[in-house]
Amino acid sequence: MDHREAQRWRLIDLPKVSDVRGNLTAIEGGSHIPFQIERVYYIYDVPSGSTRAGHAHRELHQLFLALSGSFVVHLDDGQTRQSIALNRPHIGLYVAPRVWRTIDDFSGGGVCMVLASAHYDEADYLRTYEQFSAYVGGAARAGDEATGGPAAE
Ligand code: TYD
Repeated sequence: MDHREAQRWRLIDLPKVSDVRGNLTAIEGGSHIPFQIERVYYIYDVPSGSTRAGHAHRELHQLFLALSGSFVVHLDDGQTRQSIALNRPHIGLYVAPRVWRTIDDFSGGGVCMVLASAHYDEADYLRTYEQFSAYVGGAARAGDEATGGPAAE
C-alpha cells in the first residue's frame, strides 16, 4: 500500500491482560478506537462458503473482531484493495466510512463481532458497488457489482 495517509482502514492492537486464568481484552470508545460505540452486533453460525456484507457505509465507523475462529475481510476504498484475515480477539480491524467490504472464509465456529459508531440505519448503506463508486467519486471500478465487489488482490 503506497498511500498510507489516505488509508481508510487499519489494524488496532488492543490491550490484552493475561494471567494464569486466561486473557482479557477491554475496548473503550474514543480511546482504544477512534469513535464512540453506539452499537454492537455479531455474525455467527455462518455456513461454510457464505459471504457476508457486500456494501459500504456513508458515515459509519466500525471495528471488526474475530472473537472466535477466523474470517477474511476484503476492503476497497475505490483505489486500494486489501484482504485481511482476522483470527485473534485482541486485534481489531478499524474501517472508516466509504469503504466497500465483504467478509468470507469463516472458519467453523467463527464469530465476527462488530462495534459501530451509530445505530442501525439503512439510509447509511451503499448497497451496490455502482452506488459506492458514484459516492466515492467514480474512482471505484464499476462493473464489479455482480460479484459483490472486486476480488482481493
Ligand atoms: P446486513 O447489514 O445485510 O448484514 P451483513 O453485513 O452481514 O451482510 O444485515 C442483515 C439483516 O440484519 C438486515 O435485515 C438488517 C439486519 N440488521 C439489523 O437489524 N441491525 C444491525 O445492526 C445490522 C448490522 C443488521
